[in-house]
Amino acid sequence: MPHEVRGVVAMQPGAPVEVRTVLVPDPGPGEVLVAVLACGVCHTDLHYRDGAVTDDFPFLLGHEAAGTVEAVGDGVTGLQPGDYVIIAWRAPCGGCRSCRGGRPWYCFDSRNAVQPMTLADGTPLSPALGIGAFAAKTLVAAGQAVKVDRAARPEAAGLVGCGVMAGFGAAVNTGGVGRGDTVAVIGCGGVGNAAIAGASLAGARTVVAVDIDYAKLDAATRFGATHTVNSTRTDPVDAVRELTGGFGADVVIEAVGRPETYRQAFYMRDLAGVLVQVGVPDPQMRIELPLIDLFSRGGALKSSWYGDCLPSRDFPVLIDLYLSGRFDLDGFVSETIGLDEVEAAFARMRRGEVLRSVVVL
Ligand code: APR
Ligand code: ZN
Ligand code: ZN
Repeated sequence: MPHEVRGVVAMQPGAPVEVRTVLVPDPGPGEVLVAVLACGVCHTDLHYRDGAVTDDFPFLLGHEAAGTVEAVGDGVTGLQPGDYVIIAWRAPCGGCRSCRGGRPWYCFDSRNAVQPMTLADGTPLSPALGIGAFAAKTLVAAGQAVKVDRAARPEAAGLVGCGVMAGFGAAVNTGGVGRGDTVAVIGCGGVGNAAIAGASLAGARTVVAVDIDYAKLDAATRFGATHTVNSTRTDPVDAVRELTGGFGADVVIEAVGRPETYRQAFYMRDLAGVLVQVGVPDPQMRIELPLIDLFSRGGALKSSWYGDCLPSRDFPVLIDLYLSGRFDLDGFVSETIGLDEVEAAFARMRRGEVLRSVVVL
């Protein structure tokens, strides 16, 4: 018997989301049914609802979630009912070329649940990022459910499932920030501030936060930024060079996803510096750079895929850092809301008023 729950559904491109009855099947082989406790509202949900990701409507939105395993399907090992989990949108298969090559974040055989969740009339729903957690229950592949310490409150823990991991991992996994490094982070939303926290915990000596909004820069200071630059007032490239002894930063993290901030990131690097792009640009965006600058400035230009994380390795670490008081996950939770308020949360997100709104179920 399918489980009947209420879920936040995007029915057609650009239309406001609706709370609909959703039918969630019992888990089949390799699947787990998760009782969702909390799920953050992320830009990607809005991109789905706007039709900017795929046109596979209708979508069941929500993908930054923590919950409790309610039932497991045949063949599932290592998880049982009652386990407290964060849901990952990538579950590396362990066997493909990327996984075996030690780069599981590029896995091209990541699995999601096979059985569809549906609307009441049987219409199959596409779960956002293979999750669909703006609902009291969701069905995912066992590999997507990562067990963590249950002492972490779900409103905070769920955020590790996407934006926080993306930012933290951009600094620590992709950027390889280490002790004594100088770091700059452009864009201090949920993703950028997680990068700042990651850089700070990794031992960076200088962490420069760049944003256009003073409130975001205040938040950045709480997450560990040593300096802040409002790029509407001060040229951020000059400012970062000045703060790094004239050299530029060892690692620059671009967490906005725009050509002008990418350009700033490119030029505020040390000659051997690493640029990590974690902000997601619109597909039509272009950037033009003198080829000679690409040649004469060495270092590396990287992009960070979900923080280049291995969920089963990295999620429990972030939760332990949180529980031991070294990582302020609570600081990302701007407000908690109900399922009916997701559309309003999209508007607040667009206006830059929140780091994260979190739906509590
Ligand atoms: N220069 C500097 N900062 C900027 C600029 C700019 N030109 N434009 C916007 N910002 C700042 C905003 O003020 C905000 O603080 O960038 C931040 C973006 O934060 P959010 O909108 O909260 O987005 P976030 O969830 O952090 O995601 C950032 O990463 O994963 C991607 O899709 C995600 O592209 C998005 C990016
Ligand atoms: Zn793989
Ligand atoms: Zn997300």
